[in-house]
This record gives sequence, structure tokens and C-alpha cells, in this order.
Amino acid sequence: MLENSKKNDILEAPKLPTQFLPSLRQLSGQSLSSVQSALELLRYLYLPTVFGTHSADRLSSEEHDTWEEVRRDDYERSHSVRWLTGFIARSSEWTVLGDADEKQREGLVDDAAALLACCAGASAAGRLQRTLSFPRGDAKNPLEIVLQDAGLQNNVIDDVGMQTWGSSLVLAELLAPSPEKFGLADPGEVATLRVLELGAGTGLLSLVVGKLVELGDIQSPAELVATDFQPAVIRNLRANVAFNFPDPPHDLTLRVHELDWKQVHDTPSTQRLSPPLDSPFDVILAADVIYEMDHAEWIKSTVERLLRPGGQFHLIIPLRPGHSREANTVERVFPMAGSSSGGVGIDKVAEIEKDADWLGREQVRYKWYGIRWN
Ligand SMILES: C[S@@+](CC[C@H](N)C(=O)[O-])C[C@H]1O[C@@H](n2cnc3c(N)ncnc32)[C@H](O)[C@@H]1O
Repeated sequence: MLENSKKNDILEAPKLPTQFLPSLRQLSGQSLSSVQSALELLRYLYLPTVFGTHSADRLSSEEHDTWEEVRRDDYERSHSVRWLTGFIARSSEWTVLGDADEKQREGLVDDAAALLACCAGASAAGRLQRTLSFPRGDAKNPLEIVLQDAGLQNNVIDDVGMQTWGSSLVLAELLAPSPEKFGLADPGEVATLRVLELGAGTGLLSLVVGKLVELGDIQSPAELVATDFQPAVIRNLRANVAFNFPDPPHDLTLRVHELDWKQVHDTPSTQRLSPPLDSPFDVILAADVIYEMDHAEWIKSTVERLLRPGGQFHLIIPLRPGHSREANTVERVFPMAGSSSGGVGIDKVAEIEKDADWLGREQVRYKWYGIRWN
């Protein structure tokens, strides 16, 4: 999967911003799509892709090196900065656009402002929209999700949920073509499929499941609840849901709700949780939510509280070098399914390897766990 632009578009496009950025003097005559393509190329140049999510789409080292050269070219970078500044200042001159295009124009101006911060080397590059595309299996159009993402340079620990992490992309890639393998497309078994995402961050997994319902790949009506616990993350998550589902179909409800795993862990099981967490879920999804020693314990309590009998919990974690202690807590806390210990346990495990970047010089491994009631 390539983000934002197809590989061929990238290979065929002129590589220098001085060549591909349209003249600002003629901005009033430019179409939305030509400006959008130019911004996508700038984004490819100056915004790194999500680390650890590349597989079949490797660029050759010559292709990659050519782009690297452009990236390091100060003249091209300062031309891009000047162009973005001018574009933002003059975007209101874009009289060729009708009222209907106004929202899109505003979106492009926001994108340009965030890109400007990236090109100028700011550490917190502001928000950026990423368009991600996932194949759905043979002969179907891919599914597209647009995510507001804070960019990858932001290292504030409370903001980890403002970025989209490799794990959720990897699980989304597995889910999109085969939702039935995840207990998500079993018409007849449940009247309304209830799906919960834990530590949703930008909400990619919930959004993908929502699109599968909208596109008819999941046929039962569905209630999806995307949860997190940081107020800023929840605000961003709400924006992502609203952007991707401006007008959801009648058989789909997608809610954003606060849920702190520690709080659920500490709440006596006799105490009812508030709606929409007051009834059990058929499927629970979570990506990259085990990065502190207590997380697995809290997540297990949360899943045991909220997974219906016969339901499935799918967890994916990255195997980060230097963080094996945290990753190992999963297999320490969750027994193998079928053990007599009760509670939920691990039914299936698989390791997935991806290239860290488009050259494939480094690999990132992920571990997926299919978890069910013992
Ligand atoms: C590394 S991010 C992963 C986000 C998203 N699942 C992804 O893969 O892009 C971890 C997420 O877990 C959330 N989180 C951390 N501790 C939490 C807790 N105690 N309760 C609920 N969410 C929590 C963070 O706010 C963040 O959104």
C-alpha cells in the first residue's frame, strides 16, 4: 500500500517542485485537482510515510535516491516554502471554484499550512490529512480513508494517539479484504454487529470497519464504538469520524467514546458501565496498545468486561527492539485459549514482517493475536 499517491504517479511525475508546482500568478485558473496533485507530491517529498508498513511497493534504490536528492536540495525546499506561503495568501483569488468547492479549497489550504511547517523543518508540523487506500479483494474498488494526523515528528507522549501507527495499518490491510476472518461479516449470527476499538488514536480500524459496512462487504447493521482516553485524541478521532462519514447509512452507527482501560480494570464488575459500553461487543479491535508494563493487564480486564461469549478480540502489537519486556506481557497475562484458568485466552498467533521504508533496508515485525473466551 502506498500512502496518498499511487506508486506509478510518483514515478512518472516530474520530481522538482520548481517543475511541478503550478504558477501562482495563474492560480485563479487552476483546477482543484491540479493543486491537489502538486500538494500530494510535496507531501511525498517532505512528509515521511508511516514507519514499518511497506511490503510490495518498494521503490528501487535509484528511484529512491533521486527523490532523496530532491529532498536534500535547499533551493527546491525554499521554492516549496515560498510557493506554499504564496498559495495560502492567495487562495482566496481562486475564483474559478464554485461555492460547492469551498470546503475542498479550505482543506487544501489547511494541508498547505501543515506542509509549510514540515518543509520549514518545524518539529511539530501541525495536522495533516493522509489518504489511505486498502484493497478489498478481487475486482472491487479499494476502500479509502482520510485521516487527520499530527505527523510523525511529534514526540509528546500524551499525543501518541494523534498519529497513525504501523500496527493499525497492518491490521487494517488484513481486515479490509477478509472481514469474515475477524468475525465481522457473519450475517445471521447477530442482529446488529457491535464492534469496539480500544486505544483507537486516529480511529483507522473503526473507520475501515465502517466503510466495509457502507460498501456492503459487512452485511449486518453495525454499531461501532471507537474509544480512547486523551481529550485531544478524542477530539481528533471525532473529526476523523465526521469527515469520513458525513452521512452514514441508516444501518451504521459510529460513536466516539471515552474509555480508560485502567479505570475499567479498577471498576468493580458489579458496577454498570455507562452507554454505549453497557452491553457486550461481538468484536473488539486494538492496535499498538501494549507499551507499558500494566497495559496488558488493564486491556485483559477491559476485554473480559466487554466481549460477549463467543466474541473475538484481535490485538496487534509491533515487536519494537528494546521493548520486548512490554511485548512479552501479552503472553504472560493472556493464557493460551482452552486452558482451565477461565477468562479470555490466546487462540491464534501470527507474526507479520513489513519493510520499514520504501527501500526495504530494515524490517519491522508485528504480532497479531486472535483472543477468545476459554
Ligand atoms: C500507540 S497509540 C496507537 C493508536 C492507534 N491504535 C494506532 O495504532 O494508530 C496508543 C493509543 O492508546 C491510547 N491509550 C493509552 N493508554 C490508554 C488507556 N489507559 N486507556 C485508553 N486508551 C489509552 C493512547 O491515547 C493512544 O491513542
